[in-house]
Amino acid sequence: MTHDRSSGADDKPPFTLVPPSLERLPAYAAALETGWSPNNVRDVSAEQLTAIREDPAAFIASLIQQGGTITLPDGAVVPKLPFRTYWMWDGEFCGHIGLRWQAGTDALPGHVLGHIGYAVVPAKRRRGYATLALRQILIDAREVGLSRVEITCDPDNVASRRVIESNGGRLVDQFVNERYGPGVHLRFVIELGDRRIGSTQRT
Ligand SMILES: CC(C)(COP(=O)(O)OP(=O)(O)OC[C@H]1O[C@@H](n2cnc3c(N)ncnc32)[C@H](O)[C@@H]1OP(=O)(O)O)[C@@H](O)C(=O)NCCC(=O)NCCS
Repeated sequence: MTHDRSSGADDKPPFTLVPPSLERLPAYAAALETGWSPNNVRDVSAEQLTAIREDPAAFIASLIQQGGTITLPDGAVVPKLPFRTYWMWDGEFCGHIGLRWQAGTDALPGHVLGHIGYAVVPAKRRRGYATLALRQILIDAREVGLSRVEITCDPDNVASRRVIESNGGRLVDQFVNERYGPGVHLRFVIELGDRRIGSTQRT
């Protein structure tokens, strides 16, 4: 599935969310080469570059295959939740956004910091892309049966907070999750309502 929604200028390719693909992998790898990491909890740029060099097709498969396990920062191995993952694209690679959830419930296991995570490469920041990407993936969230999503960010992450609030996010609490260290995180909730209005086109 491909989201397709213009970010504005008519003479530019539209901003879209696209699934990870071999075709776009060189642009993704170039972002990793600069030290950018799609994972905000752990810097995965070096290990992903190694995996890409070893077997590009297997790497793409590892990004999109459901099931299996993940290793948490404290070393615990847990089942991977159902997820959707996209690359942000405006003719060039812009960033990553992902949604994870548990079937049949809005609740998340205690080790998961929110339903949605995102990161934009430095060269593409402050163009509204994260705000637009979150708006688009909220349509997916509703589609998979969620009625609300939780998103967390650090108290000093002004940009991420703006992204969340621009999409209707409401601060509900502050918490510490010892698996991720002693730092305080902010928890926002976005009630999904009817996200089909003005929704994306699917190809
Ligand atoms: C947070 C992040 C995803 C924002 O991406 P982005 O595409 O630059 O965000 P947007 O362009 O949609 O900007 C959203 C808002 O934040 C503001 N903003 C962006 N960067 C900012 C900064 N460094 N300082 C202050 N405000 C900032 C924008 O002006 C905009 O404000 P507005 O809604 O009032 O117009 C990006 O900075 C990033 O990848 N950071 C590192 C990873 C990260 O923190 N991910 C989120 C973890 S919760």
